[in-house]
Amino acid sequence: MSSITSGERLILASELKEKANIELVDVSSFRWEEEFSQWRTRLQGKWNAAYECIDRHVEEGRGERVAMIYVNGDIKEEITYSKLKEETDRLAYVIKSKGIQRGERVFTLLPKTPNAYVAVLAIIKAGAVAGPLFEAFQEDAIFERMHNCDAKMIITDAELKQRVPLSKLPALEHVLIDGDGADKGAGEYHLQEELATITDEDVAQVTEWMDENEGMIIHYTSGSTGQPKGVLHAHRAIVQQKKTGEWVLDLKENDVYWCTSHPGWVTGSSYGIFAPFLNGATSLINSGRFDANEWYSYIDRFNVTVWYSAPTAFRMLKAVGGKELIERYNLSSLRHVLSVGEPLNPEIVKWGYEQLNVRIHDTWWMTETGAQLIVNLPNQTIKAGSMGRPLPGITVAILDEAGNQLPAGAVGQLAVRKGWPSMMREIWKNEEKYHSYFPYEDWYVSGDLAFQDEDGFVFFQSRDDDMINSSGERIGPFEVESALITHDAVIEAAVVGKADELRGEIVKGFVVLHPNYEESTALLEEIRLHVRGKLAAHAAPREIEVLEELPKTRISGKIMRRLLKEQA
Ligand code: PRX
Repeated sequence: MSSITSGERLILASELKEKANIELVDVSSFRWEEEFSQWRTRLQGKWNAAYECIDRHVEEGRGERVAMIYVNGDIKEEITYSKLKEETDRLAYVIKSKGIQRGERVFTLLPKTPNAYVAVLAIIKAGAVAGPLFEAFQEDAIFERMHNCDAKMIITDAELKQRVPLSKLPALEHVLIDGDGADKGAGEYHLQEELATITDEDVAQVTEWMDENEGMIIHYTSGSTGQPKGVLHAHRAIVQQKKTGEWVLDLKENDVYWCTSHPGWVTGSSYGIFAPFLNGATSLINSGRFDANEWYSYIDRFNVTVWYSAPTAFRMLKAVGGKELIERYNLSSLRHVLSVGEPLNPEIVKWGYEQLNVRIHDTWWMTETGAQLIVNLPNQTIKAGSMGRPLPGITVAILDEAGNQLPAGAVGQLAVRKGWPSMMREIWKNEEKYHSYFPYEDWYVSGDLAFQDEDGFVFFQSRDDDMINSSGERIGPFEVESALITHDAVIEAAVVGKADELRGEIVKGFVVLHPNYEESTALLEEIRLHVRGKLAAHAAPREIEVLEELPKTRISGKIMRRLLKEQA
């Protein structure tokens, strides 16, 4: 395959397979304020994202539509919007009956099965703030998040419950256990037993009506310093999640939509729960690990039409096999494919175009932004290597260190004019951190470095800090370093991202060993597994290098991660 240059106008919009939703409206004068005020008028202070995602469809006669198709190998299950309403009503009732008040935090730690979706939506329906955790998180990662958030309840299963350090979480009052197989301790309940006694009358008034600015969901995300921060989103985020589902995902009535992210990550909630359900789509939910054959077979078996995934997944598919593998499956149902989370290489755009016969539409946004902000719309030209252009109604700028706007072509801080509907409401218990995103009043500063070309296309350059992006997952060096030094052999540690062809970056650790320990492959593997057991597989360093000492600044004694990054 010939290599292509970044910025080449690779693919033209005229090659669309069918008219895009956005083509049918005039967006030239679109303003989010107006969109917002239409919602305000319609809802009259009765906001509830779960109601908008589920109940509205049932009330408007779309209850028999399939909301979720669940697949795990040979297992297949379909859940209609009516069934989803019934299940979320009942679980919301259980949550409320345990005394959970609006605004209190209820966490979930569940595998990617329909119950994970039911749980998040039921928590929101009950007026609580949902805190979905990624299923691969281990004890320390779970503890940090639930402790910081003073979580009152967790919904989990018997197996995953073992990772929740119940005795270290004084605010935690209730544990709801999904499925069989667990002994119940104090404050622990079997979900199915609790659900069994609920009547239709019980759930008649179960939806809690919220203010648009009340908390809905909290996602913990890493920065370059400190432990992960809780990014709180309010019910108002649905305004933008719905619209981007319509315009960017281009969801239409008969689509089968597949978002490959787990609801513990923001892509898995904003675009795995809210955007598709708000638009009444049918979502494919897959469990299990990445497997190229299985993934292609899902598209084939379920006639997936719209697919939202990530560059690492596309790179893995590309690496596993070319035309020969692809030709074993019928992928012709695919109409619209999108990517997020890390730089999308021009080569991958080209691969998608030539091998899958689709354009891959990159999108840029962050946990903090709650929804897509820079996008490749289905009816516009794609420039290879660009993340796209600002969504209608969104203003993007490239700023210098003093907050001045830079001209086209100049690299600077990627910033967005604040005030879009899905902008985070706060950083949990950390006002200072929240304000640090807005150093120049009007602008949200992302921490990414980028440039914008004459046509408004934005090109990602790098992060402006030490945050690591491995396979699209955001990893904070501090969290990994903190886990590394809890191993007896490690005195000091520094962690950086090392460039990697498949994963974008991998986590690389530098350690200084205790004099009683001698470097060996076995010891380094033991240290790696130690971190994995505390945090999660994706956060464990794939490489560990032993140093005599870590490079530090002379005056403040701060570890110079940049130097180590260059060395890596
Ligand atoms: O560095 C950018 C990168 O991912 C960061 C946000 O990570 P997170 O909050 O985990 O959210 C990921 C999914 C919304 C950004 O600051 N990033 C996100 N999208 C892209 C990207 N980098 C390059 N290209 C993208 N399309």
